[in-house]
Amino acid sequence: MSKQIAIDGPAGAGKSTIAKKVAKELGFIYVDTGAMYRAMALYMIKKGIKASEADKISATCGSADITIKHENGEQVVYLNGENVNGMIRTEEVGNMASASSVNGDVRKKLVELQQKLASETDVVMDGRDIGTVVLPDADVKVYLTASSKVRAERRFKELTAKGEQCDIEKIEQDIIERDYRDMHREISPLKQADDATLVDSSDMTIEEVADTIVGLYKDCGK
Ligand code: DC
Repeated sequence: MSKQIAIDGPAGAGKSTIAKKVAKELGFIYVDTGAMYRAMALYMIKKGIKASEADKISATCGSADITIKHENGEQVVYLNGENVNGMIRTEEVGNMASASSVNGDVRKKLVELQQKLASETDVVMDGRDIGTVVLPDADVKVYLTASSKVRAERRFKELTAKGEQCDIEKIEQDIIERDYRDMHREISPLKQADDATLVDSSDMTIEEVADTIVGLYKDCGK
């Protein structure tokens, strides 16, 4: 039986940085499920489909072939055979991913892919519904959060480091709106699983958060 660590939480809580670090320390594969929703969103944008066109999203998602490979320790997302890692980190794609991920057909397709990956190898998987829906029997479940202000500051630093012009207040507003959508959608809303450990990273270093999660795994006796 493969080993599974599930990390859920809102946008910008540091899930991917932490999950990558924990995976490296334990020798597991890191699976970023948000990247799959982003690849699906990119596909919809390329097809000219709008976030509000639920029927078109349902009808079209079946033809998006999304695959995950690990190359030199990095997750690479392929959309219909093309490496799209460099195209999915924009605010436009993130906002479309949040909107299109409310769609049941999109979720069904991607959840199946995520469960298959986790059944084949030891994983640290991050997302919004990993502990609640994708891996309900995960060995460790963490709900990682931080205040919207801290999350906006982190995102602002990331974007300005890449040379992108941005407004921190707009980023915080987008984060609050995205949280609301993710937490209030009908299917698989973002919420802490009953058996998940809450970790608030607002005043913690990356090392402290990663050590906490590795500690939870060691304590679980697997
Ligand atoms: O973690 P992220 O910002 O890359 O995710 C982009 C969007 O995808 C997010 O707003 C909600 C959605 N998502 C989801 O619904 N379920 C997941 N397991 C992961 C992401």
